[in-house]
Amino acid sequence: MSLELKGKTALITGATAGIGRAVASTLAELGAAVVVHGRAAERGSSVVEEISAAGGTARFVAADLADPDAVHKLAEAAGPVDVLVNNAGVFQFGPMLEATAEAFDLHMAVNTRAPMLLVAALAPAMAKRGFGVVINITTGAVSTPVRGGGVYVSSKVALDYLTRVWADELGPSGVRVNAVAAGPTRTRGMQARGADLADTLGRTTTALGRAADPREIAEVVAFLASPRSGYVTGAVVEARGGAPAHS
Ligand SMILES: NC(=O)c1ccc[n+]([C@@H]2O[C@H](COP(=O)([O-])OP(=O)(O)OC[C@H]3O[C@@H](n4cnc5c(N)ncnc54)[C@H](OP(=O)(O)O)[C@@H]3O)[C@@H](O)[C@H]2O)c1
Repeated sequence: MSLELKGKTALITGATAGIGRAVASTLAELGAAVVVHGRAAERGSSVVEEISAAGGTARFVAADLADPDAVHKLAEAAGPVDVLVNNAGVFQFGPMLEATAEAFDLHMAVNTRAPMLLVAALAPAMAKRGFGVVINITTGAVSTPVRGGGVYVSSKVALDYLTRVWADELGPSGVRVNAVAAGPTRTRGMQARGADLADTLGRTTTALGRAADPREIAEVVAFLASPRSGYVTGAVVEARGGAPAHS
């Protein structure tokens, strides 16, 4: 395994579970010193222990991303960051006509506003150093309406758009910004919404006919974090198992 991220620090939000946890381990394997973020300190410690046991470097920082002050404190505690992965996310589903202001605000706060504040806090120092990478985890469920996904997917579409705007603003400084649009992935969050929700969606909504393992999404993030993708910016890279044809 080559240490492509040796000497770099990577902050991964929502790294106490699912896709974020797999991203933290994968970037640590590439040599990055990893800042594991989440809310649950116990799960955070277990990720840090797992990475340390494998020979990597990691520490945990807790913050509730729904609170803008906590987001600022997270940016300060993380220190200078070379790779920022905006992964933490909430996803609640329900009919749009029954959506509440609270649900809308929560999705926008965690999925859209927190990445906005983190990029604003951390990217200027990246730009000054002439190097930095931001990767946003969004969803492949944007091309056709997902039943019950109005609020959630709207918050991720906004993040896809910001990805392109940040890429433009930061490109001249050598900072690349991309998104990975994930498909149905077997994670704790999906499990909580239904024991085989990820597998059912994988079977019915992807060309590959199966759900992803979190590691398969993490590998795409690793590519975008590494110098191997040096000419890729402003891209929303689909890792959603492909689109099945309509019959
Ligand atoms: N799984 C899928 O099928 C799928 C598909 C497309 C896109 N995605 C996106 O991929 C990302 C990760 O999804 P996942 O399935 O791995 O999620 P997950 O298993 O539910 O894990 C969510 C992570 O986000 C953190 N988090 C949630 N709310 C937070 C808050 N208010 N403040 C701070 N941290 C918070 C959780 O931390 P704590 O538990 O420590 O609080 C946890 O680490 C999300 O952005 C999701 O929208 C997932």
